[in-house]
Parts: sequence; structure tokens; C-alpha cells
Amino acid sequence: MKKIIVAIDGFSSCGKSTIARQLAAYASYRYIDTGAMYRAVGLYAIRHNLTSDNDIIAALPDIHIDFAPQTNGTQHTLLNGEDVETQIRTLDAGNRASQVSQIREVRQFLVEQQQAMGKDKGIVMDGRDIGTVVFPQAGLKLFLTASPQVRAQRRYKELQDKNPDTHIDYNEVLRDVNERDYRDSHRTESPLRQADDAVVVDNSYMTREQQFELICKIFNERVSQS
Ligand code: DC
Repeated sequence: MKKIIVAIDGFSSCGKSTIARQLAAYASYRYIDTGAMYRAVGLYAIRHNLTSDNDIIAALPDIHIDFAPQTNGTQHTLLNGEDVETQIRTLDAGNRASQVSQIREVRQFLVEQQQAMGKDKGIVMDGRDIGTVVFPQAGLKLFLTASPQVRAQRRYKELQDKNPDTHIDYNEVLRDVNERDYRDSHRTESPLRQADDAVVVDNSYMTREQQFELICKIFNERVSQS
């Protein structure tokens, strides 16, 4: 069976990584969460107190990001060999990720690595610019959307599940989702936008199973045509 590249883009908390992981497992493809790479750079900036763009750019040669497959089929992000999967998922790291992702040099640094990972195809990659910048030739481009309220509710639950002892404020999460949407879609460097040839999936009112079924159908059709 011919292997293709699947590019999945969309706003934060649209369930991109869930469907990307499911599809990769279904197709026996490699899954790459590019948001985790921006988050790892954000975490590095927090830890080293790098506030200016120039400081972050100068540190790039010291930042090595890898993914370590886990026995349960998931993978953890490694920052210079350290497993930082938990640390990169905080609101703070997410906000720093959004900021560092606006720096052209950071994007170039990560996009190059992402393109290298896809050279043999058979990959599902999710992010904001995968179908537009990283793999404009991807065999299948999906653009996921859901309403900000639905996404804030999902993120709220995710944060609460991961940090059961911390008080999480839903309104703060919603504000954060809206701010991040704005930044992601209005930045100068590779703003989030739908590729002209992307298939749009609004999953606000779809169950995970319905979404998985729909996307597998689209994937199978695309592979058989390629
Ligand atoms: O998908 P996420 O929330 O984990 O992404 C974290 C931040 O990284 C988000 O604000 C947007 C940015 N990002 C990006 O600019 N380009 C990508 N390909 C992936 C993520």
C-alpha cells in the first residue's frame, strides 16, 4: 500500500493530537506532534529565563528535541534527553510556545526537522502550518475546527485531569483559548490558515468515534486514489 503524508492543522484544543494519534495507529504511520516541539522550545526559554527573541535564537543550537515511544503506544517529548512531557503541557508552557512560535528563526529551525521526519512519508503530523508550509504536497490535509467554548471545555477537563489538586478557572481557560487563536491566526510568520485543498472537519458536536470513522474513510479514499 502506498504511503502518504497526512497533515492535520487547526486551532488549539480541537482534538488534533487525539485524531492524529488514532489515525497513525490505524495506518501504522509515525505520529509527530509539532506543538510539542514549540512547547519544548517555550519550556527551554522559561527555564533559562530567555526573554528576548535574540536570546532564544542564540540558544537554538543548544536545543535538541526528540520523541521517545512509550510501551502504551504514546510518545513523550524529550528536551536535551530529559522527558518533559508533563512540564510542556502547562498553561504557562503553552503561552510561551505561542510566543516563541512567532519567531521566524524558531520556525525555520523546527520546520527543517519536521520536513526531515517526513522524507519517507507514512507520517501523520499535526500543528498549525503543516499543510501550508511544512508539507504543501501532503497526500491528505485535514483542517479541524470546533467552537471556542467547546475547545475551552475540553482543555479545562484535560488540565483538571492532569492537575487534580489545582483550581482551574474555566473563564481563564476560555480567555486563553481566544487569545491563543488570535495570536496563532494573526502572527506574521506562518499564521494558522486553512490550505485551499484541505478537508475541513468541524468536530464540535461529533463524538471521537464518529470523527475517527469519518477521517478513516477520507484517509482510505485518499490512499486508494494516490
Ligand atoms: O498545539 P499546541 O497547543 O500544543 O501548540 C502550542 C503552540 O505552538 C501554539 O500556540 C501554536 C504553536 N504551534 C505552531 O505555531 N505551529 C505548529 N506547527 C504547532 C504549534
